[in-house]
Amino acid sequence: MDKPGISKTWQALINHHDKVSDLSIKEQFVNNPKRFSDFSLKAAGIFLDYSKNRVTQETMQLLFDLAEASKLSEYREKMFRGDKINITEKRAVLHTVLRNIDDVSTPEGRLVKTELERISKCVDDVREGRWLGYSGKEITDVVNIGIGGSDLGPAMVVRALQPYTTHIKVHFVSNIDATHISEAIEHLNPETTLFIIASKTFTTQETLTNALAAKQWLLSQSQAATNAIHQHFIGVTAKPERAIEFGLHQDNVFPFWDWVGGRFSLWSAIGISIALAVGMEKFYELLRGAHEMDEHFRSAPLNKNLPVILGLIGIWNIDFLGANTQAIIPYDQYLDLLPAYLQQLEMESNGKRVCIDGSEVTYKTAPIIWGGIGTNSQHSFHQLLMQGTQMVPVDFIASLHSHNPIGDHHLLLYANCLAQSQALMCGRSKDEVMQELKMQQIPDEEAAELVWHKIIPGNVPSNTIVLDKIDPATLGALIALYEHKVFVQGVIWQINSFDQWGVELGKHMATKLVPMLQDERDISDLDSSTQGLINLFI
Ligand code: F6P
Repeated sequence: MDKPGISKTWQALINHHDKVSDLSIKEQFVNNPKRFSDFSLKAAGIFLDYSKNRVTQETMQLLFDLAEASKLSEYREKMFRGDKINITEKRAVLHTVLRNIDDVSTPEGRLVKTELERISKCVDDVREGRWLGYSGKEITDVVNIGIGGSDLGPAMVVRALQPYTTHIKVHFVSNIDATHISEAIEHLNPETTLFIIASKTFTTQETLTNALAAKQWLLSQSQAATNAIHQHFIGVTAKPERAIEFGLHQDNVFPFWDWVGGRFSLWSAIGISIALAVGMEKFYELLRGAHEMDEHFRSAPLNKNLPVILGLIGIWNIDFLGANTQAIIPYDQYLDLLPAYLQQLEMESNGKRVCIDGSEVTYKTAPIIWGGIGTNSQHSFHQLLMQGTQMVPVDFIASLHSHNPIGDHHLLLYANCLAQSQALMCGRSKDEVMQELKMQQIPDEEAAELVWHKIIPGNVPSNTIVLDKIDPATLGALIALYEHKVFVQGVIWQINSFDQWGVELGKHMATKLVPMLQDERDISDLDSSTQGLINLFI
């Protein structure tokens, strides 16, 4: 396979960029009245408008050529059929099996089916009041203790599906900062609280430390006997033996498998907090929505394929137009945790500097993903998007219908979303500003000084993703869209999107510092900064 950066198809894009480097998005709309329909498509309930990007039909064709030359379709098939494409951990990448719930033709599919039945029984028992706490009371609150993929996905989905939640309140604790767990359990009743210890490895320091604190809280605040743990703790892990060793009852341990990456695990038993919040039927709808996107990704031609297009536009913006970051701005309050979720998904997956063959990449890989919800972000960081020195491509995400239709709120919300993508594209020229100042009867001298501050260059690329309404199926499809976008980019960059070695070093070093902070180990070998900071603490 040709190397990105030097391949013919990559070179063709560089040459093309030289030709279109001053391409105006606004002008493209004037030249082509059909641009919106030419550069938009819908699949699995998700509509993508990518017309406000600095692309022409030729750009897109060259990007599709790059995808072809990168053997994207072949790699996609490798993933779906379970080849060990996570080469550094020698693992298959089969989160798609978790949502293909009616297919039991594979061993993985059968495992999923069996596990879903166990999850379903647990969820129904809790939600229907058959699962009782140590004093015979029904469960009212669930606390998910996990971090990274064992927290961000479920927390984001529970938040997004809040209109579908019923009587079980679900809380999330991730940080090792004791404030997090203290605040979460402060107002909870141990008799009616169920903890989920969610950890793929069941070795993660933050999660195990919080789990111990939860155990102590339960045992100290109640008259509960030691076996109360069985009524108040469940575990979700790929290492069930470790959960049992920790003190959980084997019937309360829900496994998942090494072919499910942490940041792709919300569809597995890691999603039990979601199912407890919204019920099993809605959880199945979430899985089905994601499966519909999987089917689309697997079968649609590259030039009609949502994740492929989203991934390629990203590559164009990063590697050819020079973007270093990508903003995610949902215009839906229920999606307020989406930027944080996508940060892990994209940055942990594609924040890599080495190709699968071990050579260093010679081009940029994942951008910094960041964002916030509209309209709040307009009054915070949009100033930089409009007039700053960095070009930041944006994904706007909006829904057509609100779960809370009051007055004109939703119309105004949608108007603001469209206005931002329009403003980023059109900007405001010197002439336009001057004209406006004249109409405001600003004296010429003052106008001549002011004009420079009011010019907005525009031509900032953006995608607009529109959903009918945030419901389980659409949300499932939206998340799967981004998962596959990450896959597409990883294939083109020739990196392994499924390991995360970069996270290990910090974990290892923190463990080594613990005895030093307890004043039990000599620190004289450390750099003077770390020594000094330790001395402040002890
Ligand atoms: O942050 C690194 C990481 O390994 C993530 O990939 C993972 O989601 C998180 O830690 C939590 O790991 P675990 O589920 O094993 O506790």
